[in-house]
Amino acid sequence: MRSSSSRSLARRAAAPAGVVVAALALASVFFAPHRAPSAAAAPLSSTVLTAATAPNRTAQLALGRTLFDENCSSCHGAKAQGSALAPNLRGLGAGTVDLWVSSGWMPLANPTSQPIRKPSLFDRTQTKAIAGYVASLAPGGVPIPTVDVAGANAAQGFSVFALNCAPCHTITGAGDALADGLSAPPLHGVSAIQVAEAVRSGPGNMPRFSTFTISKQQLADVVAYVTRHIEQPSNPGGLALGGVGPVAEGFVGLFVGVGLCVLIALWIGDRNEREDTDEHGGEHAPPGAAAPPGNEPEVAHV
Ligand code: HEC
Ligand code: HEC
Repeated sequence: MRSSSSRSLARRAAAPAGVVVAALALASVFFAPHRAPSAAAAPLSSTVLTAATAPNRTAQLALGRTLFDENCSSCHGAKAQGSALAPNLRGLGAGTVDLWVSSGWMPLANPTSQPIRKPSLFDRTQTKAIAGYVASLAPGGVPIPTVDVAGANAAQGFSVFALNCAPCHTITGAGDALADGLSAPPLHGVSAIQVAEAVRSGPGNMPRFSTFTISKQQLADVVAYVTRHIEQPSNPGGLALGGVGPVAEGFVGLFVGVGLCVLIALWIGDRNEREDTDEHGGEHAPPGAAAPPGNEPEVAHV
């Protein structure tokens, strides 16, 4: 679904050291400005949402209906009932619609393109109006959750994340490829509300977690962990090698590590050769010869 560009970049830049260094330099230039807009598009401040008050409700529904008619109905149908092009949205709840619109996944440019994260077309008021309108058409689904991260414990959240989310999103939240060419997206730049909505609604190939699996408190904890410790673009996890992300960093680690091993192996080999030469009074052992005869006990092969 979403391709992991850093991964393929790392893979393509195979052995030669110059290529690797050049690719990494390129990657750091390429990825650094990339993150800024998504972080800006997901303000942290909107962590607690209150339900729309009664006098605004009619106006909000009217706004939502207009926006839906103009931007969504061509694919999802006039009453969100679905069509040959796009699924039924009735009964999904405001939280599900809010996630898909606020993340920029919707509206699609055409029915066959993949939903990808991009700056949303709509501001917060408009997005909540669309979500409220769709939710008003049929009961059920996931409401826009209220997350109070002030009382949350990010350390507990880390445990919840490691157990339930890391298998797909990786422990650093950088995202990873799943089976069948799908991928779990990186969690940098997602808002608290979006994390809660994703956990409760299970978008696409992500499972949905009910309050039995992840309680209200655990949800607040994992939201706090994701938004405080993963979301920050300045803390992508791993070492701070220009923040190019764990795949490229792992590659640097591998490169340096293998280089060290080769150096050590050469040094040991060199030392052994010198010892051999000393033992045999300057004579070189024939190439491929085993240990000097007589050193090993006779072994009876049965
Ligand atoms: C060009 C066609 C198109 C337009 C326009 C469009 N959608 Fe979609 N929408 C789709 C398709 C196709 C899917 C299924 C995508 C997938 O699952 O990968 C989808 C999926 C969704 C889902 C997830 C449904 C589910 O079962 O999980 C939601 C919610 C949604 N759209 C809301 C909207 C809203 C709100 C708008 C308007 C702001 C909108 N869409 C505009 C085509 C469209
Ligand atoms: C089975 C794999 C899997 C697991 C487990 C999983 N996710 Fe996801 N997650 C996904 C996939 C796939 C998507 C993209 C959905 C789509 O494209 O519609 C996603 C999307 C998301 C998003 C939206 C990202 C965006 O770009 O807006 C958030 C937030 C998220 N997941 C958080 C979590 C959290 C928190 C957990 C643990 C409680 C979790 N996920 C567990 C696979 C998974």
